[in-house]
Amino acid sequence: MELHRITPLFDAPAIAARIREIARQIEQDYAGETLVAIIVMKGSLMFAADLLRAMPEQDVIVEYLGVTSYAGTESTGTVRITHDLASDISGKHVLLVEDIVDTGRTLSYLLENLRSRRPASLKMVTLLDKPSRRTVVLDPDYSGFVIPDHFVVGFGLDLDQRYRNLPFIGVYDPS
Ligand code: PRP
Repeated sequence: MELHRITPLFDAPAIAARIREIARQIEQDYAGETLVAIIVMKGSLMFAADLLRAMPEQDVIVEYLGVTSYAGTESTGTVRITHDLASDISGKHVLLVEDIVDTGRTLSYLLENLRSRRPASLKMVTLLDKPSRRTVVLDPDYSGFVIPDHFVVGFGLDLDQRYRNLPFIGVYDPS
């Protein structure tokens, strides 16, 4: 581990407080509805776990979707589904749960893919939003923090599969 290369950006209490706020907003918007939360693996593991536990009153069905596009710090531009949903989402209220929207390619691909399965509604929540890197026009419905163009790790986010287990989010400096 090269923890000295990581500068903390959001600590655990700050992340927890923001997640509680987003959870309250989602609970209000989906009051009385059943929500299918699609956890986009692997990065949104921690965020989804905390977000969903912060809305105990909400009727939630959890689904997992495995998808990948990054090698090191660079997006390959090709999005690949590595694990598909286990159930039919047609007619359901679907919320896609992501850790970060960067170029937006992953989200754009997933929204199109999921829309073709005819959900009753389709929205997305991301913990981090990096709009300066966007290559497709697209805005998250709910977002935790807008961040500048730094490569961030921790709280589910990785560098070549490492650092996901850090309890905070930090900026990775390779130099
Ligand atoms: C990350 C992240 C998003 C995507 C965002 O996934 O979880 O899905 O990249 O980047 P984009 O907006 O440029 O498409 P990654 O492919 O690294 O897989 P992981 O979640 O397993 O780490």
